[in-house]
Order: sequence, then C-alpha cells, then structure tokens
Amino acid sequence: MTAASQILDRVLVLEMVRVTEAAAISAAKLIGRGDEKAADAAAVEAMRAALNGLYMDGTVVIGEGERDEAPMLYIGEKVGSAIGKGPRIDIALDPLEGTTITAKAGPNALAVLAVAEEGNLLNAPDVYMDKIAVGPGYSPDIVNLDRSVTENVTAVAREKGVDPSEIIVCVLDRPRHEKLIAELRALGCGVMLIPDGDVAGVIATTNPETTVDIYMGTGGAPEGVLAAAALRCVGGQFKGRLLFRNDDERKRAHKWGIEDLDKIYDLEELAKGDCIFAATGVTDGSLLHGVKTLRDGRITTETIVMRASSGTVRRVKSEHGRANPIR
Ligand code: FBP
Repeated sequence: MTAASQILDRVLVLEMVRVTEAAAISAAKLIGRGDEKAADAAAVEAMRAALNGLYMDGTVVIGEGERDEAPMLYIGEKVGSAIGKGPRIDIALDPLEGTTITAKAGPNALAVLAVAEEGNLLNAPDVYMDKIAVGPGYSPDIVNLDRSVTENVTAVAREKGVDPSEIIVCVLDRPRHEKLIAELRALGCGVMLIPDGDVAGVIATTNPETTVDIYMGTGGAPEGVLAAAALRCVGGQFKGRLLFRNDDERKRAHKWGIEDLDKIYDLEELAKGDCIFAATGVTDGSLLHGVKTLRDGRITTETIVMRASSGTVRRVKSEHGRANPIR
C-alpha cells in the first residue's frame, strides 16, 4: 500500500467530515440572507482553513475557478499541512453547492468534497456537462448520452419492470431543458424539476426514498466530477460529456489536457481508483439535514462520508459547541 492510500484509509475519511462541516456551518449563517456571494465566501474560507489543517500534500483539481478568477481554492492551489512531504492527494471541492438555494433558504444546499490519490480525478474545466445517471442495480450501460431521451427512459423502465410513464426523472429547471422536458412529458414521465444543486440531484437516483429513477440534463462539469465520485462509492451509473460554448472554453479544455472534446466519460474516467466523497447538509434536503442552531447555541450538522474501495457509507451527526464549533 502506498503512503497516500494509507492516509486515505486511516485518516482522511473522518478528517474530511470536519472539513465539510466547517464549510457548511459557516455558510449556514447566511441562509436566507439573499447574499449568494457572502455565503459562498464564508464556505470557501472555512473549507480552506480546515483543509490546511490536514496532513497531506493536496492539490485542488476541481475548485472555485482558475487562479485569476478565484482568490481561494482555485484550481492548482496547494492545500494541506505537509506540502512537499505528505501524501499527494487530489481534491475536488464545492464549498457551497447551491449558492442561490442558500441565499433563498431553499432545499439541498451542500458543502461537498471528494479526494483521491494524485491523478485519479478528472481535471475538468469549468464548463457545462451533459449528464445522465441512474442508481445501482441496472445492467451496465443501461443509459448513455448517444441515445435519445426516449430510448434511455424506455431501457430503464423495461429493467425496472414498469411503464415509461412511471419513471421519475430529475432535471435542473432551466430554459435550456425545454426540449428534454417536453420529450419526458410526451412519455408521461414524472419530471422532478430542481432549482439548483445537481450533485444532490444525481445522488438522489441512488436513494429509493427520493423516487428519482434517472437524472438527466446539463449542469456544471465540476459538479459532474463530484457526483461521479459519490456514485463510485454507493453504486450507480453516470455518463458525462463536456459542452463547450465558445473557443475560449475549448482552449481551457486543451489547457487541462483534454484532447477529445466529444468524449463521453464514464464513472471511472471521472473519478478513478480509491476515492472518498463527503458532503454536509447546509439546508435540509433529500440527502441530508441542514445545519441547525439549537436554543442553547449549540449547532448540529449531518454529513455523509463514503469510500469507493470499501463501499463504506457513514452518516455522521455532530453536535458542536458554541465556540469554535469545529476545533
Ligand atoms: P452554484 O452552487 O455554483 O450556484 O451551482 C449550483 C448549480 O445548480 C449546480 O448544481 C449546477 O451544476 C449548476 O449550478 C448549473 O449551472 P447554471 O446555474 O448555469 O444552469
């Protein structure tokens, strides 16, 4: 076992909980305050400070943006307390997945983090990604992006043993999805429209309680890598294809080493090998309860942390003291 995998094994799984808890608690102070930027900034600052306390030589591969546009947790930023000597870890993060949700006190805002040994997470540029996902239990390649919406829904319905009209599809509520939604409605599917937060939307396919069978549509590529890391741990299938709106975005892809711009990525190509995914609820949602402040000032959080190699899924409910909740 290499040094990096030992660290993943013994230390990082639980340490990551503290990192996403710290981001969620900081962002939660801004829930419903109508200020997306402030909520995001609070989460970023807290997550960065917590990451810098971990014994690792970490590199942000999915972060807040490129160096010239993000002052903290930019792509390529080194984090950790053992830079140059500790285990080399790649980090994909979204300190606040659902900035608008948080500003409006809506559901399913999360603080999210995925880590893997160096080289195992796709360095995705900050462009859009066409995505399709299903939960565990289906035959390999049951869905794919080179098939029509109708073909994908019909294939899933056939294996589930139901009529296509009984399939529930989660889709981001965006004008760009008008045609997709019309095709789903023509099949009679239930369409669960979410305002934001497609990491939670993809993960919802793995939880029968959400009733979501398929996630479909276009969202952020970084969120695609994070969602893929989660599915690597709990099972399920995901396909993603990067979408480029202009030459600048194409250039960025080349800069990150992406040659085939039309490639359809599978789960293992987005998040390879052993990886760990952690998310803490900021607001209440289908995956997790959000941050709550109790009457006596103590704070409660709920976090899910899971690991690909073992398939372990832990739910951590924490109660934090008033002062320095995460130390
Ligand atoms: P933020 O937290 O950065 O606001 O992202 C929320 C989100 O809804 C993602 O979950 C999703 O992938 C992306 O935005 C969709 O982008 P757009 O809002 O441009 O449609």
